[in-house]
Amino acid sequence: MNERIEQILNEVRGFKADSKEALENFRITYLSKKGIIPALFADFKTIAPELRKEMGMKLNELKNAVQEKVEEQLQLFESQQVDTFDFDMSMPANEMHGARHPLSIVRRDINSIFEHLGFTIAEGPEIEDDYHVFSALNFPPDHPARDMQDTFFISKDPSENKPSDILLRTHTSSVQVRAMESRKMPIRIIAPGRVFRNEAISARAHCIFHQIEGLYIDKNVSFVDLKQTLYHFVQEFFGEGTKVRFRPSYFPFTETSAEMDISCNICGGEGCNICKHTGWVEILGCGMCDPNILISSGIDPEIYTGFAFGMGIERIAMLKYQINDLRLFFENDLRFLEQFELA
Ligand code: DAH
Repeated sequence: MNERIEQILNEVRGFKADSKEALENFRITYLSKKGIIPALFADFKTIAPELRKEMGMKLNELKNAVQEKVEEQLQLFESQQVDTFDFDMSMPANEMHGARHPLSIVRRDINSIFEHLGFTIAEGPEIEDDYHVFSALNFPPDHPARDMQDTFFISKDPSENKPSDILLRTHTSSVQVRAMESRKMPIRIIAPGRVFRNEAISARAHCIFHQIEGLYIDKNVSFVDLKQTLYHFVQEFFGEGTKVRFRPSYFPFTETSAEMDISCNICGGEGCNICKHTGWVEILGCGMCDPNILISSGIDPEIYTGFAFGMGIERIAMLKYQINDLRLFFENDLRFLEQFELA
């Protein structure tokens, strides 16, 4: 009998059910009233008393082994059932919905053009201090240039009725300062990011918008490098043959300062509503870094020179896609968003 039990035990341990029915048959074969195990228990009464203890233990071991096997296989089926139900790899995928936001497309394309020129992407905080947004960029306290940008101040203690040092950055030029503080020479960065100004929302303005800042500092960087870099950008982004022109301007952190116009890509320079019939549209501010800002970040202007530029991503996107209302970028109307490139 011992051998018989050993043999059955081996069969039971090696058993694998390939279906639920096979498992049920297995259970019936061994455990049902007329099954193998009750029959063995019946035989048990006939064996010699001195062998009963050992046999009894063996029989119980066998019974437990069968019960465990049934449990184990049952669980296996249940887990497999979930798998096949949830992850049917042969099921056709859902049709892809959604498009990239136009601002993301434009930011990506601008980044990529400058990255090919060796610029790397830099970041800085949106909640900034006065130093990085204004003072280090040569905006003296109470200087009227600060009024060029209406600032949201974050007051640390609301009961103190004076503007705090902490504010939402009004331009990404603050990232210039952070780059000059933390990077080794030469510096060649672009900084895309969100900026905030206390302005009424209209077709042409918003209190939240996006800019891309550029900064290049090295030995012998000149205005020619600035012009050539921006000219290259315009040809790549707006297409070969787009004309550029530079007009003198003023920014506290650049000297010489300029604004750059491109020939209107909507009327091709003929004159239209977008270019106010001039044939030109302004796309960015730029200039040579004022020696003062280099000094305040510990860079010797006798050795190093640099240029900087800053542009609004919304403005560039409006020109590129001929969008005439800036609010469309923020309303998330699907009829607008669906017109852009799939993700
Ligand atoms: N920060 C300026 C603005 O928000 C844009 C700008 C102008 C950035 C000239 C520059 C620059 O880096 O050189 O209006």
